[in-house]
Amino acid sequence: TDGGSDAAKRRAGERAAEEIENGFVVGLGTGSTTAHAIRAIGRAIDDGLDIRGIPTSFQARQLALAVGIPLTSLDTVDGIDLAIDGADRVVDAPDATAHGALIKGGGAAHAREKLVDTAADRFVVVADPSKLTDRLERSVPVEVLPDAHTVVADRLAELGGEATLRAAEQKDGPVVTDNGNLVLDCEFGPIDDPDGLATRLSGLPGVVEHGLFVGVADATYVGTDDGVDVRRY
Ligand code: A5P
Repeated sequence: TDGGSDAAKRRAGERAAEEIENGFVVGLGTGSTTAHAIRAIGRAIDDGLDIRGIPTSFQARQLALAVGIPLTSLDTVDGIDLAIDGADRVVDAPDATAHGALIKGGGAAHAREKLVDTAADRFVVVADPSKLTDRLERSVPVEVLPDAHTVVADRLAELGGEATLRAAEQKDGPVVTDNGNLVLDCEFGPIDDPDGLATRLSGLPGVVEHGLFVGVADATYVGTDDGVDVRRY
């Protein structure tokens, strides 16, 4: 959803798709980088690959259907072998405890993304270099039950965050998630303890899910001008 070169996103997405083996159940993430992986999976299926996908959003489902990926659901499978998903920010600081922590939810899909990504045996993040950061400073998307948005905004203020209800671009009114909920984008300034903040956000009544993914990713594939740099956690 952010800037970043499409060629770099494509390299990252296509490299991640190469990790898929026959028989896999694959979590299909949301956003423009993962879309390259989904298209590559569709081409591999045309060439005989036999897998099933579990989409993380309406957008991922539509694209997967368009490129011919057979779909299944979380409550049908025994597990997910690999999830491929994008991110809005990735901490790239090998000496920091938050190395590999993510902010997701720029596409308002983070509730289902976290469900699928954490359920997978292996979760690979696909990103371009514009997503990498030493320290998380971007606003944190927080999905809330619709009538909880003011109460949760007050609780977020007590935690030092300034929350803004995400507005829809082509509608008078708020963004409504695939789950029928609203999104507060919460500005905390620099986040020194993402793990602690994640725990506090998860404990707020009315919060369905937040976009801090700490200790979830197993690797990040960073597309560059001429290849893919791999970070493993
Ligand atoms: C969706 O809610 C987000 O978590 C996306 O995964 C994220 O915005 C990545 O999107 P791009 O690959 O388009 O940057």
